[in-house]
Parts: sequence; structure tokens; C-alpha cells
Amino acid sequence: MTVLVTGAAGFIGYHVCQALLARGDGVLGFDNLNHYYDPALKQARLAGLRTNNRFEFVEGSVADRARVQQVVEQHPDITGIIHLAAQAGVRYSLVDPYAYVEANVMGHLVMLETARHLPGLQHLVYASSSSVYGANTKIPFAVGDPVDHPRSLYAATKRADELMSDTYARLFGLRLSGLRFFTVYGPWGRPDMAPYIFCRAIFAGETIPIYNLGFAKRDFSFVDDIARGVLACYDRPAAEPGHRLYNFGAHRSEELMRFVALLERAAGRKARIELKPAQPGDMTETYADIDLTTRDLGWMPTTTIDEGIPRFVHWFRQYHGC
Ligand SMILES: NC(=O)c1ccc[n+]([C@@H]2O[C@H](COP(=O)([O-])OP(=O)(O)OC[C@H]3O[C@@H](n4cnc5c(N)ncnc54)[C@H](O)[C@@H]3O)[C@@H](O)[C@H]2O)c1
Repeated sequence: MTVLVTGAAGFIGYHVCQALLARGDGVLGFDNLNHYYDPALKQARLAGLRTNNRFEFVEGSVADRARVQQVVEQHPDITGIIHLAAQAGVRYSLVDPYAYVEANVMGHLVMLETARHLPGLQHLVYASSSSVYGANTKIPFAVGDPVDHPRSLYAATKRADELMSDTYARLFGLRLSGLRFFTVYGPWGRPDMAPYIFCRAIFAGETIPIYNLGFAKRDFSFVDDIARGVLACYDRPAAEPGHRLYNFGAHRSEELMRFVALLERAAGRKARIELKPAQPGDMTETYADIDLTTRDLGWMPTTTIDEGIPRFVHWFRQYHGC
């Protein structure tokens, strides 16, 4: 029994693979190791995973259907897919929109087609995003809320994934679950995301640009809670074929400035802050309604930012030697 994890060298993928391996599952990791951020960090995550002999890694793109088909044919024991590979990041979707459609739309279709033709497949779980809530003003965001106005192409590709999944579940009797993650942070985190950018700037003594004049609020989710949640969902495919969506957030809307203050405290240094206006595509507030997730999957986040930030900063100092 093997779980195919796409995006295995990524931030969340790494933690999900570790959680699967820790409980004895076999993992086939798949990732194209692209250069969107420092590939040395992806290699370092992979080095950690490779210490376990139940982990196998294959390099390739999820948008390359011949490659994916070849890999799947060579691994007839795949019973589940956790599809996390994507071109992530809201702001970069203004710079290279084609990368988003390639990885997130074509790549998602290839994974749906793979699921459709895998006879032993029990469940495909994939990453969506809180960004699909776009211009919504109703707080907290619930899965049933309207999601017709994504504010970035990234969000639009994630919403497209949800719609394609809904169609495939109905047409081909698949069990599919989409997870709307809310700002995930923690050890081995992403260098393009605010927690990492702020931490790096604090240690380098550089100025931190904070957009929307510091008024943003985010539902920050600690990565261990998220990895546990991905497995909770993966282990509970729906009784009947169909497509389900779940919010995965901490269910706390935190002031960005409080997040920065906790980073300062954990780092033992003051941040230099420059307040700037909002950027195109940014959301002012994110806040997850997780009632459905708790009810169906029995999942509850347990890590507050007061606990999670020191753990992130501890890892950051070790990894960067600062
Ligand atoms: N981290 C968050 O806060 C967050 C929030 C919402 C949604 N998500 C989603 O969760 C998933 C994982 O995010 P992450 O934070 O770990 O990002 P990440 O960038 O660290 O991981 C994604 C991985 O996918 C790989 N990848 C990209 N394009 C690929 C392709 N065409 N083929 C194969 N591999 C490819 C990358 O090399 C990377 O290792 C993504 O789908 C992302 O959109 C993340």
C-alpha cells in the first residue's frame, strides 16, 4: 500500500510525508523541484525524507501526463493520492500567470485522469486554498459561502481545481476531497511567505514592508496541525463517491502586527517596519469556519501562534545558523 504524494519536496508535502512515514505507510514522493524558491531547501527536506526506506522519490512535473502515467504504471500498489504540487503564491501569479495554469490547472487535470484510471484508488485528497474566498466580506469563511470572485489568478486556478474535481467525482464515481488551507507556517516553511520573509529580515536587520498599513488579519495555521488534518481527511474517504471541501485553518483571525511582535520576541530582536498600502490580489482578512471539518473529520487545530512562532524561529535559526 503506497500513497502518492505530489509536491513532496514542498513545505506541506514534506510534513505530510513525514506523518505518513511515521505511522508506517509507504510513500512515493513526486515533485519537479522547480526554482520558484531556493531548491536547496527542497533538497534538504528530501534528504530528511530519504532517511526512511519506505520513502521513494521521483522527479517530474504533474503537468507531464506521459511522465505521471509512466510512474503510476511502475507503482501498481498506489491506493491513494495526496496532491499538493502547485505553483503557489498570490503575488507571483501577476508575474508568471502561465506557470499557474500549467501546474495548477493542467497538473490537476492530469491527477484527476490518473485517479480515474487507477483501479485500486480509494481517495484523492488535494490542496485548494483560502484564497478562493476572494472578495468575501462575511467572516468567518464557510465552505458554503460564494466563491465566484477570486482576487488573483492563483485563487482562480484553485477554484478551477475544485470545479473540475466536482465534475470528475460525478462523472467517474471518484472519492475526492479538496482542502482549503489558510496561511500555513512552521519549520521548513516557504521563503516566499510573510512569516519567513519577516524572520529573515529581523535577523538580517533589514526593513520589513508590511502592506495594507499593517491592518491585515490572517488565520495562521501551524504546519503540524495541517499535516495531521490532511491525514485525518485522507483516512476518511466519503461513504459514497463524491467531492467534498474542507477548510483547514486555526479558526483564529490574528492581527499581522501581533504575529510580528511574537516573531520579535522569539528572535530577541526588534523588527524595522515600513508600512505600505495594500497590494493587488491581497485579502484584508482570512478566518476559517472549521465546523464542517471538525464534524466530518474529527480534526481540531491545537497550536496557537504563541506556541508555533517560537518553534518556527527555532528551526529558522538552526537551518540558517543565525
Ligand atoms: N502554505 C500555505 O499557506 C498554503 C495555503 C493555501 C494553499 N496551499 C497549497 O498547498 C499546497 C502545498 O503548498 P506549500 O506551501 O507546501 O508550497 P510549496 O511551494 O512549498 O510546495 C509545492 C511543491 O510543488 C512542487 N511543484 C510545483 N509545480 C510542480 C509541478 N508542475 N509538478 C510537480 N511538482 C511541482 C514544487 O517544487 C514544491 O516543492 C499547494 O497546492 C498550495 O497551493 C498552501
